[in-house]
Amino acid sequence: MPDFVGAVDQGTTSTRFMIFDHDGAEYAKYQLEHEQILPRAGWVEHNPIEIWTRTAAVIQTTLQRTGLHFDDLAALGVTNQRETTVVWNPRTGRPYYNAIVWQDTRTDRIAAALESDGRGQVIRDKTGLRPDAYFSGGKIQWILENVDGVREAVDRGEAVFGNTDTWTLWNLTGGVNGGVHITDVTNASRTMLMDLDTLDWDDELLSFFGIPRQMLPEIRPSSDPSTYGVTFRYGPLGGEVPITAILGDQQAATVGQVCFAPGEAKNTYGTGNFLLLNTGTSRVRSESGLLTTVAYKFGDQPAVYALEGSIAVTGSAVQWLRDQLHIITSAPQSETLARQVADNGGVYFVPAFSGLFAPYWRADARGAIVGLSRFNTDAHIARATLEAICYQTRDVVEAMQRDSGVVLDVLRVDGGVTSNDLCMQLQSDILGVPVSRPTVSETTALGAAYAAGLAVGYWQDTDELSTHWAEDRRWEPTWTEEQREQGYAGWKKAVTKSFGWLD
Ligand code: G3P
Repeated sequence: MPDFVGAVDQGTTSTRFMIFDHDGAEYAKYQLEHEQILPRAGWVEHNPIEIWTRTAAVIQTTLQRTGLHFDDLAALGVTNQRETTVVWNPRTGRPYYNAIVWQDTRTDRIAAALESDGRGQVIRDKTGLRPDAYFSGGKIQWILENVDGVREAVDRGEAVFGNTDTWTLWNLTGGVNGGVHITDVTNASRTMLMDLDTLDWDDELLSFFGIPRQMLPEIRPSSDPSTYGVTFRYGPLGGEVPITAILGDQQAATVGQVCFAPGEAKNTYGTGNFLLLNTGTSRVRSESGLLTTVAYKFGDQPAVYALEGSIAVTGSAVQWLRDQLHIITSAPQSETLARQVADNGGVYFVPAFSGLFAPYWRADARGAIVGLSRFNTDAHIARATLEAICYQTRDVVEAMQRDSGVVLDVLRVDGGVTSNDLCMQLQSDILGVPVSRPTVSETTALGAAYAAGLAVGYWQDTDELSTHWAEDRRWEPTWTEEQREQGYAGWKKAVTKSFGWLD
């Protein structure tokens, strides 16, 4: 058996390739960013060709730097930004349109129409989601209705859909030279098109969006011993490696954090924040604004479900301070700037750039900075930004506790923002529970590697994976209960000021 397992993590802002060893330790990593295309207010796109060329480049660079060869890898897993929608021609390999990113709000009206006539309830019942511009169904419909010739191309078998897992897998397995058109249950569960019980595309749901079934990928388990395909011999790996796992990035992080038992949860701090609670093989319906989603399905074992609290804007609010407001020049500087003040000085920032996701689901929300007085400085804005990350997490933790009855005694965290010490301390203070970060912070890629390695017997079972998890750092709450409740009351008031900015 080869010594390592590889994982491609195709994320919202960058794509990375990682190699892990048998202990689940990081052996090598390389990543490249891609352009965020913002053609109009509320629209967010990526260039799929750029995504694929960056993916190929990070794989090649990692292999060159380590001196490893394709046959040093026992298997490969793919994980990805979920919901982001690509429609392309499998004969030419050309996309018909840019990828429409999960944060893009152009399909608000499609979602609102679904709510107005009862179809919304069918979507809730079958998919565990709620009609929202966030998910892929409306994005596919938009492309079919707005890009010339795509509908006819579907009829000719010349237009297929995929999220970026499917696009990446198709290219990795050869593209126009026989690439496979496959997704997994976790990604399919984010489209509004898959029935959570049958784990198959649902004709009634497809009819809501006018989507022909033949353009959709085959849905397979997240970890598949029968292998989706092998990497193309003349592709970036330079040889054939079995690809045996696909997981949406948040589900992959759940696996990487070894949340295999019902009641175990993780919170990933990336562009947005995503808190997932394992609910076992039964799907729990949310009464509190959370989503029900597939956490993973390993081989022919039953699917495991999760409750998810999705927050659209967290790390990307820090990027906004850097790229649009220019009050910092790097993300870590947000901490230095925020530390210049002892508290938020009465300022709250609700970064509702894409509306508000869980638990509010307000498409009409837009960003608001409130509570300003002349005394305030850019340091208060920076601090309010970090607090916003933590208050939004508190909102979803409270919803999760209401839905599941599970009271968190510790929050397991991962993702880029967890290197911000002040933010993690604020998280513990605002929640009133300890916050714990594992030694491997790249849990998303690790989860995809775990699922790929399990499929080929590189690791035996989930118990073996659980032994790898170790704590790196823990933050304990320091605020008084009064401070905590006062701060949260201010946040709740600020949230209401972000509502009502769309006609
Ligand atoms: O649902 C969107 C999510 O999958 C994006 O995650 O880490 O790329 O921001 P990330």
